[in-house]
Amino acid sequence: MSKKLLLKDAHIEGIRYLETYRKQGGYTAAEKALKMTPDEILEEVKTSGLRGRGGAGFPTGMKWSFLAKPEGVPRHLVVNADESEPGTFKDRYLMEFLPHLLIEGMLISSYCLGSNVSYIYIRGEYSWIPDILEEAIDEAKAAGFLGKNILGTGFDCEIYVQRGGGAYICGEETALLESLEGKRGNPRLKPPFPAVKGLWERPTVVNNVESIAAIVPIIDITGAEYAKIGVGRSTGTKLISACGNINKPGVYEIDMTITVEEFIYSDEYCGGIPNGKKLKACIPGGSSVPIVPANLLLKTVNGEPRYMNYESLADGGFATGTMMGSGGFIVLDEDQCIVEHTMTLARFYHHESCGQCTPCREGTGWMHKILKKIEKGEGKMEDIDLLWDIQRKIEGNTICPLGDAAAWPVAAAIRHFRDEFEWHVKNPELCLTQNYGLANYADPIPVAANN
Ligand SMILES: Cc1cc2nc3c(=O)[nH]c(=O)nc-3n(C[C@H](O)[C@H](O)[C@H](O)COP(=O)(O)O)c2cc1C
Repeated sequence: MSKKLLLKDAHIEGIRYLETYRKQGGYTAAEKALKMTPDEILEEVKTSGLRGRGGAGFPTGMKWSFLAKPEGVPRHLVVNADESEPGTFKDRYLMEFLPHLLIEGMLISSYCLGSNVSYIYIRGEYSWIPDILEEAIDEAKAAGFLGKNILGTGFDCEIYVQRGGGAYICGEETALLESLEGKRGNPRLKPPFPAVKGLWERPTVVNNVESIAAIVPIIDITGAEYAKIGVGRSTGTKLISACGNINKPGVYEIDMTITVEEFIYSDEYCGGIPNGKKLKACIPGGSSVPIVPANLLLKTVNGEPRYMNYESLADGGFATGTMMGSGGFIVLDEDQCIVEHTMTLARFYHHESCGQCTPCREGTGWMHKILKKIEKGEGKMEDIDLLWDIQRKIEGNTICPLGDAAAWPVAAAIRHFRDEFEWHVKNPELCLTQNYGLANYADPIPVAANN
């Protein structure tokens, strides 16, 4: 059984409400933290080794230590609840079922960072969740955990919930800050980084929902104990939202020592692939991370099992590895068409590009158009090389990483499944009726995946 730190009480009826949350030990970590100094809390977070759960995996303690602290200038904590990456829905689960865990994490973090006014910026489509959060905020305030002079410490903190308008780009931290300021969500040039000039030009920390919720168990059990869970630089537990061709889609908390094979096939997690189908590929970290074929997903090139953690998933770089990303685990069985799948993602990124940078604004549209052509059986062999060329010209050439997020899925699909693109070009009459099929793969699908 995997150790649970965040979801351990998620099944308890009424845990959404303060009374039940308190009965399960809720807000004792906050009571403990408010007796510590901000520097002591920061040390615990650094010791824990917690890496940001929003996608990039940047160490949270290090990010907090960069926060500028000029005299007399307010600072802010902003929680990124935009969660618009296809395949990722773990933050929704946390906020819907455990809103007080997030509020408690925000209270501790706000105290550590010196933020008297903190925000939750939430994806517009999560229309029912702001009410849940605001109810929890009201309860916490009535109980003295928010507002003025919290628990008699002299520390004041208010939390506000701001709904986004439904744009994926507003999950990028600087676009989020623009949007929170009431402007169009265009990413800002960095530097300056938000830690120096963030919300209303004030020092700001932007963290993912899960990162901030994890602060509660870190204070509860100490950073050193948290760091003992997991492996290497993948400490603590990680929420994974699993979907696609699996028997048990849902949100799972893993301790990052389990193998990918166990995660997909064991009954504790995804429960295998429906109807006895074979595993074809997987996107383990949300739609923007590279897709990996089954043979490279279950084992690294050295034949080692691949594990569900930051280092192991990235083993071999983009050539043979992928990324943990935001933990949106999308499984594809043998019936899925990689070209169609890549085209769907390209359409999404084209639609969501903010249009500020030419390579992304124009390139995402080109990629979508070319993929549409190939998918319909109207492509030429040169189109595959053109696609490759376009994605290379987007990657690294934009203000924000949305360009990379659009380029990587295309690059990985061509790198690992070029045969399937070529089959579409060579078999135009079959494209819309038949799939390339597993039988055509030169690379044998490993035995373990055929269970
Ligand atoms: C296009 C785009 C969308 C993003 N969406 C999210 C998101 O929905 N939630 C999130 O936490 N981070 C998202 N990020 C990453 C944020 O910019 C930022 O790195 C993150 O909120 C930092 O939090 P963390 O350090 O706790 O991971 C996105 C980045 C990009 C480029």
